[in-house]
Amino acid sequence: MSILIKNGRVITASEDYVADIYIENEKVHTIGTNLSMAADTVIDAQNKLVFPGGIDPHVHLDMPFMGTSSSDNYETGTRAALVGGTTMVIDFVLQTQGKSLYSALNEWRGRSDGNTLGDYSFHIAVTDFNEDTKAEIKDLIEKEGITSFKTFMAYKGALMIDDRQMVGLMNEVKKQGGMVTVHATNGDMIDFLVAKHKSEGKLSPLYHYLSQPEITESEASGRFADMAYHTGVAAYIVHMTCEGALNQIRDAAKRNQKVYAETCIQYLVIDASLYDKGFESAKWVMSPPLREKKDQESLWAGINQGSVQVVATDHCPFMWEQKKMGENDFSKIPNGHPAIEHRMELLFSEGVNKGRISLNKFVEVSSTNAAKIFGMFPQKGCIAVGSDADIVIFDPNEKHTISAKTHSMNVDYSAYEGWEINGKCKTVILRGKVAVDNSKVQVQKGYGRFIKRSKVKDVI
Ligand code: URP
Ligand code: ZN
Ligand code: ZN
Repeated sequence: MSILIKNGRVITASEDYVADIYIENEKVHTIGTNLSMAADTVIDAQNKLVFPGGIDPHVHLDMPFMGTSSSDNYETGTRAALVGGTTMVIDFVLQTQGKSLYSALNEWRGRSDGNTLGDYSFHIAVTDFNEDTKAEIKDLIEKEGITSFKTFMAYKGALMIDDRQMVGLMNEVKKQGGMVTVHATNGDMIDFLVAKHKSEGKLSPLYHYLSQPEITESEASGRFADMAYHTGVAAYIVHMTCEGALNQIRDAAKRNQKVYAETCIQYLVIDASLYDKGFESAKWVMSPPLREKKDQESLWAGINQGSVQVVATDHCPFMWEQKKMGENDFSKIPNGHPAIEHRMELLFSEGVNKGRISLNKFVEVSSTNAAKIFGMFPQKGCIAVGSDADIVIFDPNEKHTISAKTHSMNVDYSAYEGWEINGKCKTVILRGKVAVDNSKVQVQKGYGRFIKRSKVKDVI
């Protein structure tokens, strides 16, 4: 199987040039001008952008959560990801408290393996750190190629660990060469505010937002950074939403500490005014909640300053019927929103097209940095000879409108209904195979491959 892409404008995290790309046996074989290899498929990419397949390192597919399960499974979720130019995702295995990390991994493999269209990996969420789980970390890193360990500072009783466990985990993960990532919000403060609002009869989705003020995130982000500094572990904050949290890692940088930060597309493009719509606001009930315009400005600035390295989605979709579990109590609305399909196009349209970020920055935060931070570079995240041929051919001028009627995700509403987008993923190539051709998916479930990741290097 070989593909020749002709005359595309190739964009990487650092380059911008017109070239032909010849692909053979899943890999980029040659990059040059006027290439004349006889290929099985020739794609004319004149006037198109050609960039690395997107990597979304924060998704929740088929995940049991808050008494239900996220509505995209590994098949529908990775299919929608491919349609939107994302060729690889990193999903989360959640340990059940009292059980082992490996038992959770096996459970997740039972749902994912053989069912994905796109490539994938896992982070392991450690929800109960003890001597037994400590002993599993080395094998997970060295045998399974799972090198990142997620922690929750919120969701008490199910997922949250305390600071003592956090420090213990950080020490072990550092020793074994991995990374600790975090959902950084102060779970006790949030629980207090949730209980207060409920006791006052304040039960609408607005109070989900009002129960998680910015300080709950900035405090926990600073505490996490301090614990990471003390232990020296490689550290990454997921779904950062606000100026206060960003300033905590800017402060950490002053003592020469590196704390990686990921934001998600929703925190850049939509805001807390959406919590004024009565129960319809449940569509945007996620944790942390949407924030203010000033936070969006900070996050865009953080991206350009290099203090926010990744734009993910935290894709965690629920059908409207599932959202209605919290019709009379905001604390029962399953947290999460659908975005896996729209991340790349929204980031291009709202970011590049509106002059907020450069094309190179777009590639960096949607693909390259995730590959580097999570131990997959240069196999993933770049267009270079020898790299996996994961490539998006993108028409920057094609306009389209987002709608639940036309999206591929398994969810019956869109959080971006009616949004006008500038730019469309036309062809998506995954490991040398055309996976999407003019929005039509060409690969079957089972094509996606589990990608083993390497130990942490200080790469950015
Ligand atoms: O609301 C969210 N973010 N749902 C998914 C779980 C998490 O906290 O990432
Ligand atoms: Zn989270
Ligand atoms: Zn998440």
